[in-house]
Formats: sequence, C-alpha cells, structure tokens
Amino acid sequence: MTWNKTNMVNEPQGDWGGPWTERKLETFSKYVWSYLTIMKKFPYWKTIYFDGFAGSGTREKKIKTELYQQLFITEEEEKTYKGAAERVLGLSEDLSFNYYYFIDKKEESLKKLESKLKDKFKNKTIVYRAGDANKQIAELATALNSKELAALVLLDPFGMQIDWSSIEKLKNTRSDVWILIPTGVVVNRLFDKKGKLKFSKKLESFFGLPIEDIKSHFYREQKVKTLFGEKEIITKISQPIEKIAKLYADRMKTIWKYVTDEPLVLSNRNGVPIFHFVFASNNKNAQKIAKQIIQST
Ligand SMILES: C[S@@+](CC[C@H](N)C(=O)[O-])C[C@H]1O[C@@H](n2cnc3c(N)ncnc32)[C@H](O)[C@@H]1O
Repeated sequence: MTWNKTNMVNEPQGDWGGPWTERKLETFSKYVWSYLTIMKKFPYWKTIYFDGFAGSGTREKKIKTELYQQLFITEEEEKTYKGAAERVLGLSEDLSFNYYYFIDKKEESLKKLESKLKDKFKNKTIVYRAGDANKQIAELATALNSKELAALVLLDPFGMQIDWSSIEKLKNTRSDVWILIPTGVVVNRLFDKKGKLKFSKKLESFFGLPIEDIKSHFYREQKVKTLFGEKEIITKISQPIEKIAKLYADRMKTIWKYVTDEPLVLSNRNGVPIFHFVFASNNKNAQKIAKQIIQST
C-alpha cells in the first residue's frame, strides 16, 4: 500500500490494535464505572454517553500496511475482543446513562453494532448515528449548552480525524472527555526530519494553530558557519512524541479546566509510544479519579 494524503492521516481499515487497545478500554471502563456511580447521586443531570468513533463492535479483516503492522493483534486477542460500546452498556443494571449515542461514519459498521447490541440491551435508550464525528460533536455541544445534560465523551479514532474547531465547541459544557491522540503512530510521522511539512493543513486543523507556531514546537533553527559562509539548519527536537502529547494536552487546557498531565501512554510491542489517551473535565474530582485510574492501569 502506498502512503497518500488520505491514508497517512486516517486510520487503517478494520485494524484494531494490540494489547494497548485492552489497556485503553480497561482504563476507560473503570472511569465510566466511577462516573456513573457518582452521577447516580445527582439525578438532576440527565446523562449522555457519546462515542464519536463507535465502530462495529467487532474487529474486522486486517489489512497489512507498513505503518500499521505494529498494531496487529493475535488471534486470541481477537476472539476475546469487546469494544467500548458493549463494555459501557454491560457495566451493571443500576449504572446507566439516560441516553447512548453511537456515531460512526460508516453506516454498515453501525448496523453491525446495532445487531450486536439490540437484543442484549433492550432497556437502554440507544441512538445510532451515521456521519462525521466532527459534525456530531457540534450537535452534542449545542444540546449541552441548552439543557440539564452532562456528557461523557469518548473520542478514539486511530487517525487525525478530529478537528480542533470541533473540540473548541465543547468549551463551557458539562462534558468529561477521553481523547485518543495518535501521537507516535501518525502525528509524529508528519514531522519529517527537515521540517518540510507536507501535511501542514492537516496539522493546523488538528492542533488548531498556525503552522509556524506548530513548527516552533518541533524544530530548532540554528545558524552554522561553513566554508561558504553562514548557513541555517533545521533540526527536529528530541522526544517529539511526548511533545505532541503535551502540546495537545495544553490545547485541551484552553477548553477544560482540568486535564490529566500524565495521560495513559499506549505503546507498541517494541515499547514505542503510539497513542496517548488524555482525559479532560471541568470537574476537579473527575480529574483526580482519572489520574488514579491511569496510574493503576
Ligand atoms: C478505532 S475504531 C473505534 C473503536 C471503538 N471505539 C471500540 O472501542 O471498539 C474507529 C472507527 O471510527 C470510524 N471513523 C473513522 N473516521 C470517522 C469520522 N470522521 N467520523 C466518525 N467515525 C469515523 C471508523 O469507521 C471506525 O469504525
């Protein structure tokens, strides 16, 4: 498979990752449990569960690409896989959201998810919406601004599909969010060694910053003397993956009051960080709980 503009910033089709997926979902499920346990005491709030990248609930056919080989899973992991939707719905009878929204751009994936869930969770109010997560986040934000609604939002694409302009819309809402940032697996690959950024538009929409500003975080410019006079050289900073996570978390701090400073780091089998899973909320206690869960996972 050749890399092109589309597949470089998006995700591999149907390729759902290795043991790090399990860590991500375990961390998230623990948080959902705590969230619902606390919210039970505040019946004034109507709760929404919003999954912007719900998927089909099963792992699909793997497509081997150079970039995603490191995400592969074993047959055993595949058999025992349970996606976020099933885990959240199946927590326990008394721990329930008032509404569940499952979004996916692929209608067929949602159909599969629906057929997997519909008989098992008949007593829950579940809405399946096919469409781009960005558009649906905007609709969620509007709903949160006008009603007594609190939302727990999961945004876990494998690529850079979320525009910063969508995240911004959640400012001043009663929202707790977990966002999966494809720090090592995608974003870092867009920062080439020499700073010739081919995907500057994508980087701008992802971070919500002008490209020169983004560049200043990841490159150093130096003037060096050569036989032919002074020359400017550009070098990429060390530990760029951690820096990507930090920059994104700093951006999140402009939207939510509390953001986990030490996100869950998900690494591939070689120990290289591929994703960072970051939590944000306007509630200090929520941040404390997320932090404890991350540390214990
Ligand atoms: C990583 S999977 C989701 C995993 C799922 N949350 C789970 O726990 O099992 C990604 C899904 O996102 C969907 N997707 C990709 N881009 C999207 C977009 N812009 N808007 C909504 N869904 C999108 C894909 O169709 C795919 O089904």
